[in-house]
This record gives sequence, C-alpha cells and structure tokens, in this order.
Amino acid sequence: MDPFVNDYASRARAMVASEIRGLFAVAARPEIVSLAGGMPYVSALPLDIVGDMAGRLIAGRGAAALQYCTAHGDPGLREQICEVMELEGIHAHPDDVVVTVGSQQALDLVTRIFADPGDVILAEGPSYVGALGAFTAYQADVVHVPMDNAGLIPEALDEAIRRLAADGRRAKFLYTVPNFHNPAGVTLSAQRRGRILDICASAGLLVVEDNPYGLLGFAGEPLRALRADDAGGVVYLGTFSKTFAPGVRVGWAVAPPAIRDKLVLAAESAVLCHSSFAQLLVREYLCSQPWRDQLKVFREIYRERRDAMLDTLGAVMPSRCQWTRPAGGFYVWLGLPRGLDAKAMLPDAVSSRVAYVPGTGFYADGQGAQHLRLSYCFPDPDRIREGVRRLAGVVAAQIELRGGDSGVRQPRASAGPVGPARSRAAGPSRRWRDGQGASTLPVPASVTRMASIGQVDAASSTASSGPTSACTGLDRSSSFSRK
Ligand SMILES: Cc1ncc(COP(=O)(O)O)c(C=O)c1O
Repeated sequence: MDPFVNDYASRARAMVASEIRGLFAVAARPEIVSLAGGMPYVSALPLDIVGDMAGRLIAGRGAAALQYCTAHGDPGLREQICEVMELEGIHAHPDDVVVTVGSQQALDLVTRIFADPGDVILAEGPSYVGALGAFTAYQADVVHVPMDNAGLIPEALDEAIRRLAADGRRAKFLYTVPNFHNPAGVTLSAQRRGRILDICASAGLLVVEDNPYGLLGFAGEPLRALRADDAGGVVYLGTFSKTFAPGVRVGWAVAPPAIRDKLVLAAESAVLCHSSFAQLLVREYLCSQPWRDQLKVFREIYRERRDAMLDTLGAVMPSRCQWTRPAGGFYVWLGLPRGLDAKAMLPDAVSSRVAYVPGTGFYADGQGAQHLRLSYCFPDPDRIREGVRRLAGVVAAQIELRGGDSGVRQPRASAGPVGPARSRAAGPSRRWRDGQGASTLPVPASVTRMASIGQVDAASSTASSGPTSACTGLDRSSSFSRK
C-alpha cells in the first residue's frame, strides 16, 4: 500500500501505464514474435563508426560535449535541423528551432504551455499513444476526429470545431501525424493538406504537426509538410529517433517566435538543458556521415518488412479482417470482424507466441476495441511472417468460437507480390469508428500504388551529404559504408 496515495496531485491520478508499456515485458521474451513495439532497427547503423565518432567527440571536444548548454539547443545542430527539414519544403531559421529530448518532450512542452485542465485538444482517432499520455497528464480533454485511408477527414474536423463551438468550447490545438501515421499507417493526402490548414486558420486553431516518419516513405519524394505552407499557424515536431537512433533522445520543435520563447522557458524549467553530448553526436553524424544514404538503407529494410507483413496478411488472415497498406513508416492497423475484441484476444495471442497492441490504447475515449496495431519495423521478415501466421490462427480460432466461418486461407508456399487490398472493392471511403464500417474500409488507389511501387527517394539518391559549416570540427576520417 502506498502511504502517499492521498497526496498525489490530481494530474498524477490521471497517469496510467500505457497498453504498450505493460506489453513490453512479455513481448521481450524470445519465444514471442513481437509485432507490438515500434522500435527502430538501429542495428542497420554502422555501429562501429558511430562508436568511433562518439569516442572522437569526447577526446576532441569533451569540454563542450560534457558541459551544460542552453535550453534552446546547440546552434550548429539547429542549423542542420533546418537543412533536414528542407527535404519536406520547410524553410525555417535556426532561431525558430528548439531542441528537445525526443519529440516526446516537445509534445509535453507544447501541452504544458497551452493546456489547462479541462481544455480540449483535437486529435486523430486513433492517435499516437505517447501524445495521448502527454495530453492526459495535463488533464486535457481529447476529442478525436475520424480518419480514413487518406488521413484526417477535413469535413469531420470542421464538424468537430462547430460542435465544440455550439457547446461554448474551443480546442487549444489540433494534434496530427500526417505521414505514415502511428498507429493507422495512413498518410494525409496532398489534396487534404491545404483544406486542413484553411479550416484551422479560419477557426484560429493552432496545428501541432508531429512528423517522425516523414523521411521514411517507400516511394517518391517526401510529402510537403503542413508547416511548409503555414509558418505562423503550425508547430512542427521532428526527431532523429527513426532516422538515426532513439537512444540519443534528440528531437525538435519549430514554432512561431512567441511560442518558441515559451517552449524554451518550459524546457529550461523541465531539464535546464538537453544533453550536450547527444546534440553534438547528432551534429557530427549529420556533418560527417552520408545520412541521406543511411535513410535509403532504413527505407529499404522497412519496405521489405512491410511487404513481408502485407503479403502474409493477404495469404493467411481470415477474410473478414481488414488492414491498411502503409506507404512508409512502421505500422499496419488491422480491423477484426465484428464481435471480436483485440484486448480480450491478447492473452490467447501471447499463448500462441505473438504480441500486438490492442486498438483501445490509441483512443482517449474507449474506442478501438475491434482494432489492433501491428509493427513491422523490428523483427526480420521471416519472424514477421511467422508472427502473422500465428496471429491468423488466433483470430480464426476466435471467429470459430463465436460460431462463424473464419474464412481462413491455406498459407501460400511463398509470399509473392503484394496483392490488391481485399477491401478495395468495398466502395467509397468510410470512417474508422468501431461499428461504422470499420470492416469495409477501402484503400484508395493512390495509397495502394505508392505502397507497391517501392522506389527509393530520388532526392536522397542524388543529393550530397557532405560536411557543412555547422560541423563540430572533428577529424572525419571514417564515414559510413553503404550497406
Ligand atoms: C507519432 C510519434 N510521435 C512522437 C514519437 C516520440 O518519438 P521520440 O520521443 O523518440 O522522438 C513517436 C515514437 O514512436 C511517434 O510514433
């Protein structure tokens, strides 16, 4: 019994372990194929070279790397962050950038400076679980806005804003993950981006654009960021967790000057400053290593794993299941047949040695029971195939238990090319709400096409990644060899 149980602040009472956290301990057991966590595949980095860089950083610039710095972040790193964001059409000044401890801290800081208890935050349904954790920690009231396969639905956003206004309420900001959504795996279409910005601008609503996966698309150029078209109305969040390594905990926010100043003050009171060592390591990495080539390596690895997952789902999953077909990023969002509950099914899945994240973790209001998130970023393709086969067996058994025909297929000998999405013939787009056509969600041809072409990004194959003026000044004798 906790002797201080009655002493906690009310905001601490709202803090509960996420569905994912509880799962990590179980999913880490070697016999279990974990399709649950979204851990980047950092083994694809040339770790010996990164180790070398770290050693040289301490030996050559240890007095700075091991010292305090400012909460705004290292100026050279901020310059390089601006260069990275150019790939998505953002032309920002380094002064507009605030370095954070991953984009998770940026989410915390943005919420801290905007949300009082009871304030409304609009967020896609489903939404990134870590963002929901930050919002509830500040006792914000999350109102979900539905998505479909082209991302957030503009009409639904408009409607949500109007509904709030009719109740005398106004949201503090819209939180959105436009690219390769976590957990939904879909991307906000280029056509919808302007419309979403227009709706928010006319409502005076700030947009918080969280974009960890934007450079991990499997086809074509990176999509233009929302921030690229609205510097005054968007706070953009980025991170090196997926494009370099989550262990360095380096992310950033780009914000209009007034918001930026508040973010710096909030960061100062939270952590004084960020790790100088981590910032200089990332700066050195961007200066001295062919990071654009490394992005291609990551994209190829994740594309192969995405294909392994989609091929196997198509081959073995009971026919009444539906899933999204991500064109980048880490996640597939799977809808179960009506009557099945992903959370209730999880113990059976773990007994069958496969783990996933139940959909309810991605909603603040109890929706999502009929969905689950599958990650393909970490296990190798054979493990992914095995995990999906095990999951298909669990789902089929659940369907049969309820007296239904599982429609289960015989596994194919080899996983062949990605077949057409089973749901594509289902007609016009429907929203993702349990009981509202979730099992007939169609995939627009554009998403399917992008997912199956799988070309590498032309910009990154031609662009140079040579040293810039923002380098840390270390000897750069070693650089990554292409994998
Ligand atoms: C959508 C989204 N936002 C933010 C984060 C946090 O990333 P980090 O704090 O490692 O930068 C994640 C991590 O999975 C994510 O998926």
